[in-house]
Amino acid sequence: MSDKTYTLTAPDGRSAELPAMSGTVGPDVVNIGSLYKQLGIFTYDPGFVSTGSCESEITFIDGNEGVLMYRGYPVEQLAEHSHFVEVCYLLLNGVLPTADELDQFTDSIRRHTMLNESLLRFYNGFHHDAHPMAMVSGVVGSMSAFYHDSTDITNPKHREIFAHRIIAKLPTIAAAAYKHSIGQPFIYPRNDLDYCSNILNMFFGVPAEPYQIDPIAAEALDLLFILHADHEQNCSTSTVRMAASSSANPYSAIAAGISALWGPAHGGANEAVLEMLEEIGDRKNIEKYVAKAKDKNDPFRLMGFGHRVYKNFDPRATIIREMCHKVLKNLGQTDSPLFELALELEQVALKDEYFIEKNLYPNVDFYSGIIYRALGIPTSMFTVMFAIGRAVGWVAHWDEMISEPGRRISRPRQLYTGSDKRDYAPIEKR
Ligand code: CMC
Repeated sequence: MSDKTYTLTAPDGRSAELPAMSGTVGPDVVNIGSLYKQLGIFTYDPGFVSTGSCESEITFIDGNEGVLMYRGYPVEQLAEHSHFVEVCYLLLNGVLPTADELDQFTDSIRRHTMLNESLLRFYNGFHHDAHPMAMVSGVVGSMSAFYHDSTDITNPKHREIFAHRIIAKLPTIAAAAYKHSIGQPFIYPRNDLDYCSNILNMFFGVPAEPYQIDPIAAEALDLLFILHADHEQNCSTSTVRMAASSSANPYSAIAAGISALWGPAHGGANEAVLEMLEEIGDRKNIEKYVAKAKDKNDPFRLMGFGHRVYKNFDPRATIIREMCHKVLKNLGQTDSPLFELALELEQVALKDEYFIEKNLYPNVDFYSGIIYRALGIPTSMFTVMFAIGRAVGWVAHWDEMISEPGRRISRPRQLYTGSDKRDYAPIEKR
């Protein structure tokens, strides 16, 4: 709490004293919790443009400076020196692990990778062309019908098992969705492999022959997961918090987050970027598509551009762009027309008055799909990959919220603009 207060004066002269709160870094917030009691009014902020929905110690973003920190550590440092499983520990526990703590955590994540066989049978109920995000959200929601030993949200041990299960099993669930869509047998997880090598093996291995895991591909995936691991109160994380605020089953709250992530304004943008680049097809069409994006009468937007919080470069996009060069070179795919097109599109947009004036920069989704494509992951699976990385963020925020003393259900108010009171008319009189 800060010692500052803000005074809001109503047109009739009554006023409300609203205390300010200061975080570690970042702007103060005004606590409006008593506003309705004091003045009988609500605030109105569709899309939460100026609204902080909670207090959190997990992730900090400075959108003007292009800063992203997990538990105080700049994402650039984590991307360079850490690895995804260590970042998961950091996000969940607030501190970097000792060697022993990391060993124990890694072991637990490895040992929770298998799915109950009955869950695997669910996939047969999906048509082969079901979108993988539909399958993944359905199967994760169904986990609430299986793992009853981890749903007492007041028990810290249950919460820990739940967290580890989500992080460990999501790759298995994702790989099963992919295998179902291409009609191949499911590949079971291998606990002797590291997190990302196991994913590649489950995606691309087949029972008929051994599969050679490419360490460069595993490293690229690991980096993408670090960059996707958390992003404070984004749409899917807020959805998880909101759904779980009623003390709902935690697996179903994560399924709600997966559904929110799927939208093209959020995690679905990585799939939409690739589709857009393929539609643009050639550099000669870039101007036409940039003009379409600027045309208010055209619903087309430059996918992978713009962000609610970043009004400067998204630091994740900068790292991923660099990584594209490295991954394509290491995989021997230096001649990537899609990457060339993306680089050129970025340059054209960054010089365009419309994008400059509105502070529209490439976001995390602009380049990530190019790497997924280079690794052989199909476009329809891109948002699923995002979900695997973001799962730890959802779980960390869920745990933070559930552990909060005096936690209350999330229940926003509204500005009602429907009909005033009217009397029911019998059908013959309408
Ligand atoms: N192309 C063209 N114009 C855009 C774009 C874009 N990609 N993004 C925003 N604008 C314009 C928008 O039309 C509006 O113009 P005006 O002020 O004249 O009405 C202005 O910029 C502000 O946009 P907004 O929609 O009010 O901003 P927002 O904060 O509500 O939305 C956004 C943020 C990310 C949904 C939006 O920028 C967008 O739709 N981008 C494309 C989709 C995308 O890449 N999403 C991934 C986001 S990052 C990863 C994640 O969240 O998962």
